[in-house]
Amino acid sequence: MKEIRLNNGVTIPQIGFGTYKATTADGYEVVLDAIRSGYRHLDTAALYENEEDVGRAVRESGIPRDEFFITSKLARYALGYENTKREFEASLKKLGMEYIDLYLIHWPRPDYGDHDFDNWEKLDMESWRAMEELYEEGRIRAIGVSNFLPHHLENLMKNSRVTPAINQLELHPGYLQKEAVDFSRDHGIEIEAWSPIGRARLMNEPLLIEISEKYGISVARLCLCFDLQSGFIILPKSTHRERMEENLRADEINIEEEDMQRIMSMHQAGWSGEHPDRETIKP
Ligand SMILES: NC(=O)c1ccc[n+]([C@@H]2O[C@H](COP(=O)([O-])OP(=O)(O)OC[C@H]3O[C@@H](n4cnc5c(N)ncnc54)[C@H](OP(=O)(O)O)[C@@H]3O)[C@@H](O)[C@H]2O)c1
Repeated sequence: MKEIRLNNGVTIPQIGFGTYKATTADGYEVVLDAIRSGYRHLDTAALYENEEDVGRAVRESGIPRDEFFITSKLARYALGYENTKREFEASLKKLGMEYIDLYLIHWPRPDYGDHDFDNWEKLDMESWRAMEELYEEGRIRAIGVSNFLPHHLENLMKNSRVTPAINQLELHPGYLQKEAVDFSRDHGIEIEAWSPIGRARLMNEPLLIEISEKYGISVARLCLCFDLQSGFIILPKSTHRERMEENLRADEINIEEEDMQRIMSMHQAGWSGEHPDRETIKP
């Protein structure tokens, strides 16, 4: 599988397995299925409450830890220097690991309505300072952010030593966040796409159905092919083994430039309704 080289030289498999709500019914066995399907890059977060399942699946797979790329995230309710250090230790303990490959600030601000919502600039800087220290101690191989728009990144990079390696954003046909993607790339920050299938909200889009039929693939796979060809690292989630395998093969199809352009210019669709600076809108 293709690997992407981050701005600090660390490499990451371009296709990872998303674990949000993946373990709700069957726990760690879903993650073990993903590993058996061939995934070595696993995306979790403190908020998903499944770091223990991810760690257990990695151990039970019998595959050496250093063959995996494990991401976890600092929850938005735990921003700040001391909180970050404490939360990182908690994540590591739940994973049962000695290091994390990639640690991200999950959202740039506390939740909408939280008393610290307007204090985000200071909180982000404090968290980042804690993450820089953990990175320099060798306990994290790369540090990054998620859901950061240009003004959040500008604040973070103003007084920091380490440039984020990754910005993980909601990205799929119908929601391309061009400004955030371009700004990140201009600063050497790689892009990861969360909800690369639009959490299955794109399945009935006529344009995507038409183009997917032309290539003889599902709409889900078309979304993933489009994201890969856009240069994004993707994190599809599925609880079904055959879909896990299908999603891993997303790099086998080549979408013609004309179809890429048509998808790029489609109307907004499949957005989760989540925005870092605003209240969530139910889609
Ligand atoms: N940083 C953030 O703020 C953030 C936010 C959200 C998500 N994420 C990360 O991104 C990952 C993926 O996002 P997501 O879970 O929201 O959504 P997603 O991967 O876009 O979509 C998952 C949905 O698509 C279905 N699906 C998967 N493969 C399919 C296929 N080949 N054919 C048809 N349907 C298919 C799944 O159903 P089944 O499970 O039933 O197969 C599930 O309903 C998460 O798991 C998480 O790791 C990060």
